[in-house]
Amino acid sequence: MAEQLISTCAHETLPESYVRDAAERPRLDEVVPDAHIPVVDLAHPDRAAIVSQIGAACRSHGFFQVLNHGLPAELMEAAMAVAHEFFRLSPEEKAKLYSDDPAKKIRLSTSFNVRKETVHNWRDYLRLHCHPLEQFVPDWPSNPSAFREVMSTYCKEIRELGFRLYAAISESLGLEEDYMKKVLGEQEQHMAVNFYPKCPSPELTYGLPAHTDPNALTILLMDEQVAGLQVLKDGQWIAVNPRPNALVVNLGDQLQALSNGRYKSVWHRAVVNSDRPRMSIASFMCPCNSVVLGPAEKLVGDASPAVYRNYTYDEYYKKFWSRNLDQEHCLELFRT
Ligand code: OGA
Ligand code: NI
Repeated sequence: MAEQLISTCAHETLPESYVRDAAERPRLDEVVPDAHIPVVDLAHPDRAAIVSQIGAACRSHGFFQVLNHGLPAELMEAAMAVAHEFFRLSPEEKAKLYSDDPAKKIRLSTSFNVRKETVHNWRDYLRLHCHPLEQFVPDWPSNPSAFREVMSTYCKEIRELGFRLYAAISESLGLEEDYMKKVLGEQEQHMAVNFYPKCPSPELTYGLPAHTDPNALTILLMDEQVAGLQVLKDGQWIAVNPRPNALVVNLGDQLQALSNGRYKSVWHRAVVNSDRPRMSIASFMCPCNSVVLGPAEKLVGDASPAVYRNYTYDEYYKKFWSRNLDQEHCLELFRT
């Protein structure tokens, strides 16, 4: 029900259904505030250096930030601006788009999977399918009036960047440059515009609890003013601090499988705060539903047997959405 949206009114206290058990709380005072997340300058003149930096980041963190990625700063600002405008729409406008059915290709929802979960998360999100654009844009929100145009341009640019990153990641694994683009098939692209309102008790709840992304590659545009993304590194949660004009890239479960476990789809989470709302725009590059996925043949041998079995993305995605977000790594269910 649309009444469950949290961006439609102010909250004095955290409702009981958002409060985590003591053992599951974020323990914000233990988070490493100023850790280093690899930063890769994509305009570096030496391509081999870019490939090797990306490979190192994929091995060490599964996360990196990119600079000089080709997306104009004005476009990123415009995307953030329409996102904010969208979440300022009236409750009646928002109710028209509300759905808690993960199969819907355009929907405004809240938390993660309200049908399945027992504790909710302090997040509202607009989830859109984005490829092919001509197919989906006519059903995207028409309010704010600039939404469709700004977000379509943003999606096109992100897709181009995604393909460039696939090429570098493929090369870093010793695969053909076009390996990933080919093997993932005609890729879907989804977007989640995540809005985390000010939260009365950030120490008791999450914006998004620890999870890994089920898709292949995620590119995140973060609020430049407000931090909230954290990544698990060597058993410790480290904060990813926003950098002007950067985009955050992380590997999803499918690249962990493809790399036969050499690269990791790393646990991450979003925490909230009591001072300021936070916005993030996540773009998910997703394999074609029907292609068969699994470790790249070239990365499987006597010394490194296949860690995961083959499966279709359709099978994987259904499994992912049938569970709670913070259970075991979904890929564990696909081990050989
Ligand atoms: C996601 C995600 C992090 C953030 O949408 O999958 O991890 O900072 N978002 O919003
Ligand atoms: Ni995520």
